[in-house]
Amino acid sequence: MANGLPTSIIIFGASGDLTQRKLIPSLFNGYRKGRMPKQFRIVGYGNTAFTDEAFRSHLEDGIKKFASFEVKSEQWAEFASKIFYLQGKYDTLDDFEKLSEAMSKWEDGAGNRMYYMATPPGVFPNIIDLLGITEQLTENGGWRRVVIEKPFGTDLASAKNLNQQIHRTLNENQIYRIDHYLGKETVQNILITRFANTIFEPLWNRNYIDHVEITVAEKVGVEHRGKFYDGVGVMRDMFQNHLLQLLSLVAMEPPSSFEANALRNEKVKVLCSIRPMNAEAVAQNAVRSQYKGYLQENGVSPESKTPTFAALKLQVDNWRWQGVPFYLRSGKALKEKVSQITVQFKEPPHLLFNASNGIPTPNMLILFLQPDEGVHWRFEAKVPDTISETRSVDMEFKYADSFGKTAIPEAYERLLLDTITGDASLFTRADEVETAWGLIDPILEAWNSTSQPLAAYDVGSWGPAKADALLARDGKIWSMWEARKE
Ligand code: BG6
Repeated sequence: MANGLPTSIIIFGASGDLTQRKLIPSLFNGYRKGRMPKQFRIVGYGNTAFTDEAFRSHLEDGIKKFASFEVKSEQWAEFASKIFYLQGKYDTLDDFEKLSEAMSKWEDGAGNRMYYMATPPGVFPNIIDLLGITEQLTENGGWRRVVIEKPFGTDLASAKNLNQQIHRTLNENQIYRIDHYLGKETVQNILITRFANTIFEPLWNRNYIDHVEITVAEKVGVEHRGKFYDGVGVMRDMFQNHLLQLLSLVAMEPPSSFEANALRNEKVKVLCSIRPMNAEAVAQNAVRSQYKGYLQENGVSPESKTPTFAALKLQVDNWRWQGVPFYLRSGKALKEKVSQITVQFKEPPHLLFNASNGIPTPNMLILFLQPDEGVHWRFEAKVPDTISETRSVDMEFKYADSFGKTAIPEAYERLLLDTITGDASLFTRADEVETAWGLIDPILEAWNSTSQPLAAYDVGSWGPAKADALLARDGKIWSMWEARKE
């Protein structure tokens, strides 16, 4: 609920890439749409020396490069006049006192504050401590909310530590842990598809679904993030957060409401139902690989064993999903950038007709998260002018056709505005992050202690043959829509 108080958005790590590329374009777009609070200002805080003017012009360069909408110069000038910069260190009490003074002066009474941690993860517990010491997190009429970027920890122990550390100063309802996948329209549409329609839910279980596939493929390699990525790898970078979030949304029970805790309770229940893997299960059900040429990337150790691709077969042990495998895969330097979820239904129990290619094709519901966002429904139809031959046809909904090409906003826009309005449904809760790490840790440990060599895959492929073998063993193939059309 808006309380009418002035709202400040303080970005730590403001001189970095994220601020210029995502945060400012998203806030500006919210402003253009009239969704920002009446009185607000944005304060950039960072090590780099900037005057307000220089900071604004640095952000304007970003807007011109990264905004997906038309930027009107008067509107930008209006918005930019609300942006300020304060140079400071992340571990110096004096600098935090200066920030506190500047904020109180502007607010002139009570005010709301959102603190955004766009810094490297190592420094934000310190920042939160200093904000606490200087009483900038005390809610004295206005709210205080802290947005934390991923990665949230590097394993279960560090995530628990981090949670304990920040809970010393903040209540859980003040913490907004970002997973930008949850800000994507198409990801939110998973819930709409399931729970705003009656036709899918009765079928959404082990009686009708054969298996579920989740693919998040990227065409780019590690680009300029070699050093960071090499210490992280695909499991921490993509699976612990994005892919497990997607799985939770597909597999969760209907929540009683869309309220943050109701929704997150259901997601946590799914994570708790995923069967943890021991070393033997990892050897059987997890594939890791590295793209050829990765070792020559800038910032990557020449002996690195960091996987840039992984595929998993997961089992969800509950009544709804018992026996339905969930196959997940993600990697860099693959053939295409594509994120999609395929829900494959069981074959008809008794075949009366001949499929045109000789293979009966089961029904599929495919949620295209990106690009070409939409939902496809694949079913069998009669081939005209045959006695009873069938062929798969595709009924499709495309966002671009129904809502226009520019209808889909940047994921951060929704997440930033939700933080301002105090809606945490699309943010991950402490127990959710920890449960996810509890699933990933044993896989990483098993990989670290194996003497098995790390397989390599070709840049521009769909990953290593072993990832195909993971499904072939169960008599299945990755039903990549595009790949099938080739
Ligand atoms: C980030 C990862 O969280 O997600 C990146 O750190 C990855 O490595 C990115 O490239 C993918 O996001 P999107 O929105 O482009 O699918």
